[in-house]
Amino acid sequence: MKIRVLGSSAGGGFPQWNCNCGNCRGVRNGSIAARPRTQSSLAVSVDGLSWLLVNASPDILAQLAANPELQPARQARDTGIAAVLLMDAQIDHVTGLLMLRENSARLPIYATDAVWQDLSTGFPVVSILSHYCGVERRTIALDDAPLEIPALPGVRIEALPLSSKAPPYSPHRNAPERGDNIGLLLTANDSGKRAFYAPGLGALEPHVRDAMRRADLLLVDGTMWTDDEMIRLGLSKKTAADMGHLAQSGPGGMIDVLDALDRPGARKVLIHINNTNPILVDDGPERRTLAQHGIEVAHDGMTFEL
Ligand code: MLT
Ligand code: MN
Ligand code: ZN
Repeated sequence: MKIRVLGSSAGGGFPQWNCNCGNCRGVRNGSIAARPRTQSSLAVSVDGLSWLLVNASPDILAQLAANPELQPARQARDTGIAAVLLMDAQIDHVTGLLMLRENSARLPIYATDAVWQDLSTGFPVVSILSHYCGVERRTIALDDAPLEIPALPGVRIEALPLSSKAPPYSPHRNAPERGDNIGLLLTANDSGKRAFYAPGLGALEPHVRDAMRRADLLLVDGTMWTDDEMIRLGLSKKTAADMGHLAQSGPGGMIDVLDALDRPGARKVLIHINNTNPILVDDGPERRTLAQHGIEVAHDGMTFEL
């Protein structure tokens, strides 16, 4: 199983178009050691031809241009994207569906009922796409039965309901529903290796910790270093927790969570990184702290073989 990071940034990307925080300004003018990052998405494949797109980011076209493997060019109109799986209905994870409207067939989309509901109401992308390629609804039932996706033969997919947040335009923003956000545990049956992916992780419930303990690769919520990061910079009134994200530093933060996993050799990688997060600076003190804990920071194009 091959996992390619198409986009490692949180909503807004890095640099964010209208942001002049130290990181965004610094990466724009080259005064800090950091690389730009596009918005949150992975591509997963077994044969390198058929890919499951996990989240359709607003940057999907740039991501496809940067990853020619996803364009196998077998016929006049072609794509390596065999299906899309959505982990929530947030703008950074679903807007790219609009960019896939020229698809030759109905686009198979895997999502929970809660996400399908948001995509038919608060963000009615399903109705919009019905005027173009159309979509094929595949429901992620959250009934513990592993998901079989034809594009990924030999990969067992377990979807875990997560405690995080539905988007601001969701009818259930303030009345959370099971399935508003999910995490994924992907097992490659041949190697027996597992990857856990959760770009939005607000709280660590026991079933989530269990899944994380079973993973050889962890790609987890790296949105913010401190809970009040955006507030301190004067950029927002929301904490990381308000947005459904667990900050990295401090007691009970993501570093502590990852430290407590007792699986020697597991790779721990932070992903979905907000542009304000100091871990984006390659030679900064926060990055040294992460290195001391054996934690890596995802970048676009990073690839894992499991
Ligand atoms: C989030 O995960 O909270 C989003 O990236 C926020 C956003 O897109 O505005
Ligand atoms: Mn996001
Ligand atoms: Zn910024």
